[in-house]
Amino acid sequence: MPLDPSLRRELVDVVGPAHLIDDDRRASYEIDWTGRFRGATPAVVRPGGTDEVAAVLDVCRRHGVAVVPQGGNTGLVGGSVPLAGEVVLSLRRLDAVGEVDREAAQLTAGAGASVESVQQAAARAGLRYAVDFGARGSATVGGSVATDAGGINVLRWGGTRAQLLGVEAVLGTGDVVSRLQGLVKDNTGYDLAGVLCGSEGTLGVVTAARLRLVAAHEHTVTALVAFADVPAAVRAVATWRSSLDTLDAAEIVLDPGVRLVAGVLGCGLPFDRPAPVYVLVEASGHDDPTDDLAVAVGAVVGVLGVAVASDAAGRSRLWRYREEHTSSINTVGVPHKYDVTLPIAALAGFMADVPAVVRAAAPSATTWLFGHVGDGNIHVNVTGVAVDDPALDEVLDEAVYRFVVACGGCISAEHGIGTAKARWLSLDRSAGDLAAMRALKSAFDPAGILNPAVLLGQ
Ligand code: FAD
Ligand code: MLT
Ligand code: ZN
Repeated sequence: MPLDPSLRRELVDVVGPAHLIDDDRRASYEIDWTGRFRGATPAVVRPGGTDEVAAVLDVCRRHGVAVVPQGGNTGLVGGSVPLAGEVVLSLRRLDAVGEVDREAAQLTAGAGASVESVQQAAARAGLRYAVDFGARGSATVGGSVATDAGGINVLRWGGTRAQLLGVEAVLGTGDVVSRLQGLVKDNTGYDLAGVLCGSEGTLGVVTAARLRLVAAHEHTVTALVAFADVPAAVRAVATWRSSLDTLDAAEIVLDPGVRLVAGVLGCGLPFDRPAPVYVLVEASGHDDPTDDLAVAVGAVVGVLGVAVASDAAGRSRLWRYREEHTSSINTVGVPHKYDVTLPIAALAGFMADVPAVVRAAAPSATTWLFGHVGDGNIHVNVTGVAVDDPALDEVLDEAVYRFVVACGGCISAEHGIGTAKARWLSLDRSAGDLAAMRALKSAFDPAGILNPAVLLGQ
């Protein structure tokens, strides 16, 4: 699909010939991380600053060409790739990480900076960026703001929105909004940063963010706790959440997923005697939380075994059984991914019954369950199902999402709606909610050039 010559000329005038890609190098921008969503683009445009982002959007708006903003392309809902022939606007060149303001415990980072580079800058200053997840090395600040990324520390510190003190962004209108002073209290009008956070590139293109940092702790302890069943694990996490004020993370994995990870990595199982369910729990503090964690683990019923580590190598040996789930599942086949939240009271029942719901829709399917149990956020991954069968997708998606909603949950906890779930948004948002979202979309992006297929769909 060739780029219109006059559009090409105008885009090159903005970014320079080296930063407009319309040859084979487009390939990696056209397919998502899971391999499920593949599109085609006439060009990838790589602006080097906010002015260039605004100028690129201006050119695209005048030519009536839609744009997909893209950061690290680690999104899991088909929102970052050009499924309908859009131009890809890659923000990766905006990767500056500003100096840490130690007094305010804040920093400003460009949209293209990786989450890990922000964590590292914070750590060098004796502080911590509290958002963390497996894709930290590739996922960008812009992408994490656009998706309101969650991850493993939401339990204690909140998700990306909770760290966001301001953004700079170019709206679909071409207006640049910028508030990066980092004022902790500022209720002067609408919270534009809050609106842009989680808008998945449909309202504006984030070019920088002002981020809150928290105190770094001298002591961190990680424990993998084995249980006989999910209800016991969920009850234990509820107890720890209310009794351990050092609790950073509580993540659940099941025996089949742990065996899969161990097989893919070629490492042993965590215990001589495998258990049906494991919770990976992590606590940190200025004082060593190991004793408090031991007391808390000792106080719950149903514990079959515990492995503990306080050193970095030992902790990452425990974490790999959880963190390597995503890439290990991809070795089985391209997964259908469902990222849902349930009320805590419905969590164990949901996890018990969802495999049967999946099998009723797709008898050949295997269901993998893992996730952020402390937040009620479970990742339901389905393999063994054809990837290019829209009719089957429809049946499977409808079965899972209707079950989630019937259990009182919601269809997107942290990955966003993207294109994958746009069709199902009305299952868990009212007509009034949807009308308000559409009104925001028309106000921020009246020409409809920003990610038109994402979230609200076309
Ligand atoms: P992309 O994938 O490039 O884009 C994601 C969305 O944001 C798209 O809709 C895109 O158009 C939009 N976008 C990107 N940049 C901008 C911008 N500058 N301005 C406006 N819109 C933009 N997510 C979690 O929440 N928690 C997890 O625990 C987690 N773990 C993961 C583990 C692995 C191994 C992988 C592969 C993914 C994981 N994810 C997780 C999903 C993903 O990493 C996050 O959604 C992340 O925030 C996406 O960032 P990105 O830079 O890759 O964005
Ligand atoms: C995770 O928690 O590991 C991620 O959200 C990625 C996934 O769902 O696979
Ligand atoms: Zn997750």
